[in-house]
Amino acid sequence: MNKNLHAIYVGLFFLVGVSITVLLAVDGFKYYNLPIEQRFFSSQHTILKPSGFIGHGLGIFGTLMMIFGVAIYMIRKRTPKLLNFGYLKYWLEFHIFLCTLGPILVLYHTAFKFGGLVSVSFWSMVAVVLSGVVGRFIYLQIPRTIQGQEVNINELSEISDDLTYKLKKQYNVDDSIINQIENIFSSNKYSAKSAGYNFLIVIKEYFGLKVNLAKLKKQISSKGTKGKQLKEIIKIIKSKIILNRRIGMLRSMQKLFRYWHIIHLPFAITMLVIMLVHVAVTIILGYKWIF
Ligand code: HEM
Ligand code: HEM
Repeated sequence: MNKNLHAIYVGLFFLVGVSITVLLAVDGFKYYNLPIEQRFFSSQHTILKPSGFIGHGLGIFGTLMMIFGVAIYMIRKRTPKLLNFGYLKYWLEFHIFLCTLGPILVLYHTAFKFGGLVSVSFWSMVAVVLSGVVGRFIYLQIPRTIQGQEVNINELSEISDDLTYKLKKQYNVDDSIINQIENIFSSNKYSAKSAGYNFLIVIKEYFGLKVNLAKLKKQISSKGTKGKQLKEIIKIIKSKIILNRRIGMLRSMQKLFRYWHIIHLPFAITMLVIMLVHVAVTIILGYKWIF
């Protein structure tokens, strides 16, 4: 998948997700906004209540999306022979799409009323989605090949050295600037710190990076480099700074990611088990959808 196709792939997920969320909100706004005791008298009650045609259907589709989104990713990751196409990272994006839209549909299924044992399933679902966002963030801090395999520390150091070589030889960047980058953004700065500390540093430096790059840009342009060449140099410097940080944090982020799996999975299992009990109870109570 080339860059443009990938942008369309992700853009389509975004468009479908946002459109469905907005459509359901607009359609049901009046009903969901009513106090619980007045909903019974609304003309939309028969279709939007959790056992109504739309409400019930949303619960079923949302749940199926989550089950499919988890199953397909786990199969692709653990038994690649079975699903031998597409890079793992694209499948993760598909997992994120289905497991974000699925919970949104379930949210509309509940009609924003969370009672009984099934509320444990609902809040576990919220926890798994929120932990997913954190996991995605940590995942992106661990450098990977285009196929989604982790890159080892020696290969990363070689890439960083190549970038320095390019700045020096191809773009004639001054030694004083290179030394500044190597000293201020050295990977050693991060390697001695704990995983939690590094996690906060990444967020802080996300905003600090723009300021630092602007300072370096000013210094380089004062030496006469302008236009397209200056843009390319800044792009390489940005890659190098981010790479150095990721090299320094690699071990602690890998550790944090292992801990993260220990949180994400049990929430997913809790949600699933209680949801199964909930579905069994509704079937025993005689609730039917279109079948
Ligand atoms: C993770 C998935 C699900 C969650 C978190 C969930 C949550 C809920 C909640 C909070 C309610 C409202 C309870 C109340 O009125 O106090 C509800 C009602 C209901 N759900 Fe689900 N649900 C899920 C999946 C499903 C599925 C897959 C089905 C059907 C196969 C289903 C069928 C129903 C029905 C029929 C009701 C109405 C029950 C009644 O009015 O007594 N739910 N659900
Ligand atoms: C109800 C929603 C979700 C459920 C049930 C769910 C469940 C799972 C499960 C079972 C795994 C596999 C864990 C493993 O391989 O040990 C996983 C992996 C993952 N999920 Fe989710 N997930 C959900 C939503 C999300 C969301 C919303 C995001 C991101 C925004 C996300 C990001 C991830 C990431 C980054 C991984 C790790 C991939 C890897 O290590 O290869 N998940 N999820």
